[in-house]
Amino acid sequence: MKNYSIAVLPGDGTGPEVAREGVKVVNAAGRRFGFKVDWHDYDFGGDRYLKTGEVLPDSAVEEFRRYKAILLGAVGHPEVKPGILEKGILLRLRFELEQYINLRPVKLYRATDCPVKDKGPEQVDFMVVRENNEGLYTGSGGFVFKGTPHEIAVQESINTRRGVDRCLKYAFELAKRRRGGKPWGGLKPEDVKAGQTAQLTLCGKTNVLTYAFDLWERAFHEMGAAYPTVKRDYTHVDATCMWFVKNPEWFDVIVTDNMFGDIITDLAAMIQGGLGVAAGGNINPEGTSMFEPMGGSAPKYTGKNVINPIAAINAAGMMMDFLGETAAAKAIEDAVIKIINTKIKSLAAGKMGCSTTQVGDLVAEAVA
Ligand code: IPM
Ligand code: MN
Repeated sequence: MKNYSIAVLPGDGTGPEVAREGVKVVNAAGRRFGFKVDWHDYDFGGDRYLKTGEVLPDSAVEEFRRYKAILLGAVGHPEVKPGILEKGILLRLRFELEQYINLRPVKLYRATDCPVKDKGPEQVDFMVVRENNEGLYTGSGGFVFKGTPHEIAVQESINTRRGVDRCLKYAFELAKRRRGGKPWGGLKPEDVKAGQTAQLTLCGKTNVLTYAFDLWERAFHEMGAAYPTVKRDYTHVDATCMWFVKNPEWFDVIVTDNMFGDIITDLAAMIQGGLGVAAGGNINPEGTSMFEPMGGSAPKYTGKNVINPIAAINAAGMMMDFLGETAAAKAIEDAVIKIINTKIKSLAAGKMGCSTTQVGDLVAEAVA
């Protein structure tokens, strides 16, 4: 029997409620697929910070390095100034553990959950690969003459050739393998005839960010030459937002920088059914990766057993896929699809027609 050691960081607000259901479903999958998980809980978050003043000790970062995966609930506490926990826990782990990919599957499971008219699961099914260690997120910049009428605030976007290349590499490989070589439905007949099976869209802003996205675009085409089965496509970030609403079926895999990726994946979450289902992975392919529901700590719903745990269950599924348990990951996703389509009224918190724990039980039962 295979044994996994996984860290759990339930965090703030509804984080513990949803992380618990993710753990429950993975344990059920383990019983069916023959693996066992030893879960190690860490209580970092708002409550601990308010009690002790400690956000994340250096020793914790070192401890996390010993795991292949971390399951995160949520960070963000109504009594803690915004930024302290986000920067001190989430961003710090992303950077120090070199989780340079933020992977966001965008898949709609039921047509009625999509706010865009006439779009169903066939039309909303793509992946966003967001660069997760650079861009505007490095904290590079500063103030001059702070607090005076002449104040200057500079926030720099950092784009290194190494950082861009490793992100592109991940995206090209993902596009190449996504459907096991089966051609993506959005390709033109002549593309398929020419041997193409996938599309990778670079989302940028080459018309204004003429340094950063010049580098991205050159690197994209240079690397793309080695991936003849992947059709290269480009869209500006503003147009990407427009197409997400108008023609989401135009996307297969998208690769973009940190800030644009942050923004477009929230929009993408809405067309896939909302924050109740949207999950992501902060991935270091050679190190420690961290998987999280996108919903945040949702203080309004905390402790009420009404938050939708599916995003956390999906995050846990992605985590098992990352660990190599592909059959278990597929079974978890299939179970989620089944339960959404048969048991859950709405994906919104408080409107599911079942409680948080019931949804977890239903999915766990369907997996077993
Ligand atoms: C996300 C979040 C974070 C980000 C915040 C909480 C720092 O919005 O994971 O997308 O901006 O990356
Ligand atoms: Mn975000």
